[in-house]
Amino acid sequence: MSTDFKSLPKAEIHIHLEGCFSTETIVELARENGTPLPRPEERLLEFQGLADFLRFLDFICGLSRSKDQLARSAYAFSRRMADSGVGYADVIVNPTHWSGWRGNLSGLVEGLDEGFRAAEADGLPPVGLCVSLLRQQSCVEAVALVEELLRLKHPRVVALSVDGNEAASGRTGEKFAEAFQIAGRGGLGRTAHAGESSGPEGVRDAIFLLGADRIDHGVRAIEDPALVEILADRQIALGVCPSSNLVLGLYRTLGEHPIELLRRAGVPVSVNTDDPALLRTDLAAEYARTADAFAWDKETCRGVAETSIRASFAPDALKTSLL
Ligand code: ADE
Ligand code: ZN
Repeated sequence: MSTDFKSLPKAEIHIHLEGCFSTETIVELARENGTPLPRPEERLLEFQGLADFLRFLDFICGLSRSKDQLARSAYAFSRRMADSGVGYADVIVNPTHWSGWRGNLSGLVEGLDEGFRAAEADGLPPVGLCVSLLRQQSCVEAVALVEELLRLKHPRVVALSVDGNEAASGRTGEKFAEAFQIAGRGGLGRTAHAGESSGPEGVRDAIFLLGADRIDHGVRAIEDPALVEILADRQIALGVCPSSNLVLGLYRTLGEHPIELLRRAGVPVSVNTDDPALLRTDLAAEYARTADAFAWDKETCRGVAETSIRASFAPDALKTSLL
């Protein structure tokens, strides 16, 4: 396939800043802090499923304690986006992982914003911040986070998100419905992890209880044909991350991955990386791999990339310029 995936106009709409630390950066930050690594460097990126992976995120993010460290990781993120030819990125940041910033949401947002602004000034792509709840948080914590976001009114923050492990938390749609409703009324976008560690019921809850504008993963919707029809009818986009689903044990091979069945059923699917540094991938490679597995032609690749731009929380003028 001759398509040059780096030059394909596209957005990255499902990526966690927590998953963008390279091994070298983790080792460097651990040294700066005098913190021992949880396992030897050569086995640092070996994960035993999602729960183990999420614990590792707590470890890495706990190493960023100064504003300068935050700004550096934001800048490095924008550089990573440019390297894959991304025109705009929505990045998920979950404050619960960043233990050094507990109780200081504005400090966390300001520190990251400093790095994103410096990156944009250097010609790197613009970034919107999706601040995320963790599935295990309470309704009270969720509402408090959203109210604080709305008080901050920081232009960097474009959306509310929820991530984490639904297999450990059970169904949480009801618990988070109020927070998502307040976020929507306050003008924030809404995105939710579902249909990864939850089955199709998680995707239904994200649509009907959280009012999600798009779904992060969402791939297990394939297990419920009526739900696939709903996603297609309402044109609710999925932020699909094929390699992540393989590494974290959802499917054994790319050939078994449901992205193609969903796309053929009319669901707007996009290709994304989730946690590229930790899962050792990048967006251009992810497009190449997926296109190869399903023999996508140029037009199909363009369509998927266009979906990523349309489903992003970028300002309309920027979307138009990228399309
Ligand atoms: N946080 C970072 N990566 C995640 C994933 N794949 N699922 C849920 N939460 C996450
Ligand atoms: Zn994710």
